[in-house]
Amino acid sequence: MRLPFELDYKPHLPSKTDYGIAFVGTGGIVQYAHIPAYRKVGFHIVGCYDLKRETAEAVAREHDIPRVYNSVNELLADEAVEIVDIAVLPWAQKAVVEQVAGARKHMLCQKPLSQDFAEAVEIVAMADRAGVKQAINHQMRWDAGIRASKHLIEQGVIGQATDVQIQVSVSTPWHMWPWLASVSGLEVMFHSIHYLDAIRYLFGDPEWVTSRHARYALQGDVRGETKTITVLDYTNGLQALVSVNHYNQWAEPFATFRFIGTEGAIDGTIGLMYNYPSGRPDTIEITSKQFGSGVKITPTLDEMWIPDAFVGTMASLMEAIQTDSEPKDNSTRDNLNTLRVVQAAYRSAAENRSVRPSEIG
Ligand SMILES: NC(=O)c1ccc[n+]([C@@H]2O[C@H](COP(=O)([O-])OP(=O)(O)OC[C@H]3O[C@@H](n4cnc5c(N)ncnc54)[C@H](O)[C@@H]3O)[C@@H](O)[C@H]2O)c1
Repeated sequence: MRLPFELDYKPHLPSKTDYGIAFVGTGGIVQYAHIPAYRKVGFHIVGCYDLKRETAEAVAREHDIPRVYNSVNELLADEAVEIVDIAVLPWAQKAVVEQVAGARKHMLCQKPLSQDFAEAVEIVAMADRAGVKQAINHQMRWDAGIRASKHLIEQGVIGQATDVQIQVSVSTPWHMWPWLASVSGLEVMFHSIHYLDAIRYLFGDPEWVTSRHARYALQGDVRGETKTITVLDYTNGLQALVSVNHYNQWAEPFATFRFIGTEGAIDGTIGLMYNYPSGRPDTIEITSKQFGSGVKITPTLDEMWIPDAFVGTMASLMEAIQTDSEPKDNSTRDNLNTLRVVQAAYRSAAENRSVRPSEIG
């Protein structure tokens, strides 16, 4: 059986997409995700800058980027640059945002906005004071399985959500992010943050956060937590579980989401996590009172988290610039509430108690 409506799960492009984009930071994520995404839909990349000039030059050569700048200031002085795509390490982000806001240019920031909540608030305020648009690259909101679920939930397919689960047990290629080895808050801040943000996107803000964090016996020099279980409680009785293990080196890997409601359920897999960063397409299986008992609908999702979802975050920023409004699904202001959930998870784990996100900030 097919769905009785067209499933809307691909990023929507605004009518104007030729804004000049320049990168600050041209590391891994820009090379294997941002550039392929932007090239796929014809976004206009005008230049790049990296602290390591040889990295920026190699990336420009490989991807046909016309200009390599010698400094952030030189990049900002280029009138062709209308959007700055910031992809530096989180502790360097605020200083770059300050410069970009000072030059009154729009910007896409990386997640996490900051590891420090007060600093994240300041980053948002900088864009406000400058009167520029600032969006966050929380692109799981545009991942096909999550976007499709959003549409299905809006169509009433599952009724009122009662049980939400995202469970991931994989062997993560940590060598891709050597800088993560030294951070004290690792799993929730850098990985589960995607799931917590996606759950907020689909189901809104939780009332309580309860989180437990552990390290893997053989994780060596990696300092932070790598196995976490987080429970979100909502006032309407919805409970959400996010359970993640990055050191599954023996069992079959899995990365699943399950959204069960009073009238139906969506069961899916997060393709990217089966073989990061190549991944595979997400899958979803839908059951609903609307379709009759025993009927399972399994639409094909033919887009990938990397690179396709990365189109969504940038397209949303462009739309906001064009319509002079807040980025609809990825404003940094809204992202502060995702960071509240993240910080509540750390406080919960540290203090062995449930924490309200409203305690943060
Ligand atoms: N949205 C996502 O799904 C996602 C995925 C991976 C990484 N990230 C985020 O992207 C950011 C970059 O991660 P990565 O994996 O590409 O790291 P990376 O180490 O591969 O690249 C970072 C690059 O930034 C450069 N850099 C550092 N400070 C700079 C500065 N002040 N000015 C200019 N260049 C600077 C470095 O020289 C390096 O080339 C991190 O904040 C990370 O959390 C997001």
